[in-house]
Parts: sequence; C-alpha cells; structure tokens
Amino acid sequence: MRLHVADHPLVAHKLTVLRNKETASPTFRLLVDELVTLLAYEATRDVRVEPHEIETPVTTTVGVRLAEPRPLVVPILRAGLGMLEGMTRLLPTAEVGFLGMQRDEETLEAVTYANRLPDDLTGRHVFLLDPMLATGGTLVAAIDYVFARGARDVTAVCLLAAPEGIQVLENAVGDRVDVQLVVAAVDERLNEKAYIVPGLGDAGDRLYGVV
Ligand code: URA
Repeated sequence: MRLHVADHPLVAHKLTVLRNKETASPTFRLLVDELVTLLAYEATRDVRVEPHEIETPVTTTVGVRLAEPRPLVVPILRAGLGMLEGMTRLLPTAEVGFLGMQRDEETLEAVTYANRLPDDLTGRHVFLLDPMLATGGTLVAAIDYVFARGARDVTAVCLLAAPEGIQVLENAVGDRVDVQLVVAAVDERLNEKAYIVPGLGDAGDRLYGVV
C-alpha cells in the first residue's frame, strides 16, 4: 500500500478549525469540502489519461484526456457523503456509486446496509471516500468489495487516520501497489471507544447533526 500524507499549511490550518469542537456544522461542511478538494489533487495523481489531439488558435497539439473506463467515486455513507462534492469538483466526469457501511458499535465490525454500485468494476479506478480511518474495518471491507468486482486500483481518501487503522489496512492489502491511501493527517491513536485521538469527534454527527 502506498500512503500519502498531505503536507501543506492550508491543509493543517483547515484541519485545525475542523478539530475545534466550537466549529458548527455549516462551517464544518464547507471546510471538509475544501480539504477534500486539496486532497483530491494528490489522490488523482495516478488517474489514467490518454493522448488527445486538439487545435489551439495557433496550431494542433497533443494533450491528454481522462481515459475510459471512467473513474468511480464511492462515498461510504453516511460521513463520506460530505466528501463527495470536493472530490467530484476535480473529477466532474467520474461516475458516483454509494456504499452504506457502518461499524457495529459492540463488535466494531463493518456492516454493509446499502449498496448502489455497478456489479462489474473491471478495470476501474475506484476512489473510496471515508473521513475517518479508525479501526480500518470499514475501509478493508470496502476495498475487498470493489476488488472482488474487478476494480483495477483503489485510492482511499480520508481526512484523519489512526496508526492502528493504517496497520490494519497494511495487513489486509500487504504490498499491493494498486492501493493508495491519501490522508490529511495521521493522528496519535484510538481511544477505548475506537475514536481517533485527538481527532475531531464523530464526523457524521459533526457534518449532519446527531440522528
Ligand atoms: N469515526 C468517527 O466519526 N470518528 C472517529 O474518531 C472514529 C470513527
């Protein structure tokens, strides 16, 4: 697995505001959106392109365009939904699928409760969006799921990751180079309730309120 931690003062600044418990949902949503767009720039570094000839007002030249099959962006519901706009802003032609996964708070295992994805993902580059990589259970389940349907490579985009979750991911995907993890920061640890410390709390609740 390849790990990329964004190292940028704007990312650090926006993350600090997100972590602040005084930051209310409207600002939180806006900042997540901005942060994901910054992360999307890094996450799409390996997106596949093909040569594309065009005419400028002066001459003909060969540039590039996104290659088929189109990338697939998959927010993991609920909290991943807050990352969708920020990602598709840079990849407007991507297809979007949805995966509803949540962890069982007793067993901490990932449970799939909704799936709106094409059955055949052959050759696709899949971008999984999940703000918090905590125990890693959800992300590992989602990665297995899309590879089982033929995905060619997977880039997971997270805001925060715990070292424990990164280790679980490493153990699950080994040295596959077709899995990339892009995060804004790696935090200290998980607490006894599997929350990331220092973290930002429950990302879904902070985005959408407690339901
Ligand atoms: N999910 C969250 O929303 N926050 C955490 O800290 C861990 C998992």
